[in-house]
Amino acid sequence: MKPRSWRPCHACRSRSSQNPSEDRIPVKISVIGAGYVGLTTATCLAEIGHTVRCADNDETKLNLLRCGQMPFFEPHLEELVLKNCQAGRLRFETTESSVVNAEAIFICVGTPPLENGEADLSAIANVARTIGQRATGDCLVIEKSTVPVQTGQQLKRQLQLYVDKGLRCDLVSNPEFLREGSAIEDFFHPDRIVIGVEREEAARQIEEIYRPLLDRSFHCPVHSDCKEDRKPAWVVTDTNSAELIKHASNSFLAMKISFINMVSDLCDAVGADVSKVALGMGMDPRIGPAFLNPGIGFGGFCFPKDVQAFVRIAEKAGCDFSLLREVENVNKRRIELFVEKVRKELWVVRGRKIAVWGLAFKPNTDDVRFAPSLEIVRSLIREGAEVSAYDPQATEKARAVMPDVRYCANPYEAAQGAEAVVVVTEWEEFRHIDWQRLRRLVERPLIIDGRNALDSKLVARNGFHYVSIGRAAVAAERVECGDREKIRTENAERAVQDIALEGLTRAL
Ligand code: UGA
Repeated sequence: MKPRSWRPCHACRSRSSQNPSEDRIPVKISVIGAGYVGLTTATCLAEIGHTVRCADNDETKLNLLRCGQMPFFEPHLEELVLKNCQAGRLRFETTESSVVNAEAIFICVGTPPLENGEADLSAIANVARTIGQRATGDCLVIEKSTVPVQTGQQLKRQLQLYVDKGLRCDLVSNPEFLREGSAIEDFFHPDRIVIGVEREEAARQIEEIYRPLLDRSFHCPVHSDCKEDRKPAWVVTDTNSAELIKHASNSFLAMKISFINMVSDLCDAVGADVSKVALGMGMDPRIGPAFLNPGIGFGGFCFPKDVQAFVRIAEKAGCDFSLLREVENVNKRRIELFVEKVRKELWVVRGRKIAVWGLAFKPNTDDVRFAPSLEIVRSLIREGAEVSAYDPQATEKARAVMPDVRYCANPYEAAQGAEAVVVVTEWEEFRHIDWQRLRRLVERPLIIDGRNALDSKLVARNGFHYVSIGRAAVAAERVECGDREKIRTENAERAVQDIALEGLTRAL
């Protein structure tokens, strides 16, 4: 098959249009993997005008998608999938059929962790085999899954079968930097697009695919009045460097989180306020304000596995990246430190009714994979607490892995009769609580905020005792309504009653 020219038609480009991306020649794209990365990428590539077939080996998921049902929650995704399917730019197929006649194939399959922390690349190898067997014309193979450095080189060997047919196949590494919960927004407003290539021609071809983003010539589907005109940086490197950029970026961000978490412990110990420390640090442009929010640690399907995998990659290459091992250790300790905070406030956890607000590993997603919330809930239940949980989106996914918890329909139901409300995911909804209503529902006005998500003064003004992370100074201000001593005394009295009751029960 003769390769088509991907150069945008200049006559068309010079024509004025409401949506200039509609004037370009669409590229026939196959996106393999309909997970968080694949489905978002496929949908957004269709939205900027390409013709996209999104594939998955899970037939049930494909059928759901064909009926317009999303396999996970991601803001704006559903409406964009429907819109692009209706416009005929997006459809769902099997991997085998999607690669036939594709001009560009994006690999977006999962790379879950193996027992030893390395990434399992078997799904990528399978896709490479299918491309080798089924693809019919010259094409670009674009590797988007998060992979260890040198995976591109291995992939190239796998694709030899394809090349043996006399077809041209260029491999591009194109790491993704989409965050769950804001993935669509991140796709349309990236800071940088990183491309690892071996031939300049491949860079030129992939540049045409991303042209609408680079020129900012698309209708932003996220912001009704999008004023953003900052163009993303276009970073072209070799494939090894592109692969390293991804792992190094995620590991660096994880390191920032563990660093601020240690600073928060220090703040608790010496009576300082970590939010002020982070603010002061973040004003230095060499540090930056992002990812300096302390709390119960990082979770999700990216940071925990990517840090682990990066340590293994370094080890295999003969480099001791023990710095990252400590990042992991600090993160693992967050759960126990937080549960200890709960213990300290409640004195005796056993038999206490605790409301847990939030289950997703971060807001705006229903993803609970490697979510710190699960560990915290399990730990509280192990200690004998009666947990009622609420999350705006993640209940069903949490129920599938933790069926024994009482799940509630709203934060008030969860808090009914609770002796502590524990915030583990910083959903916006929790910042707009009717505090007086909540005050009437709880057995005891105690908020333990694992994300420093709430306004401490507002919470205290409404009569709650407020405990957060690394803000001993905030607790010390102790505002009008708080009365720590009173709560301590109540704790002590309750504990004495509990112990007496336990003794009595045993004696009977
Ligand atoms: C992360 C990266 O941010 C993306 O750039 C990358 O594309 C993605 O992984 C991936 O590799 O696919 P994501 O895991 O969706 O994205 O979420 P983040 O917003 O990065 O948060 C990760 C974890 O760190 C969450 O548990 C969050 O609560 C925690 N976090 C984040 C903190 O504890 N403190 C912070 O200041 C920021």
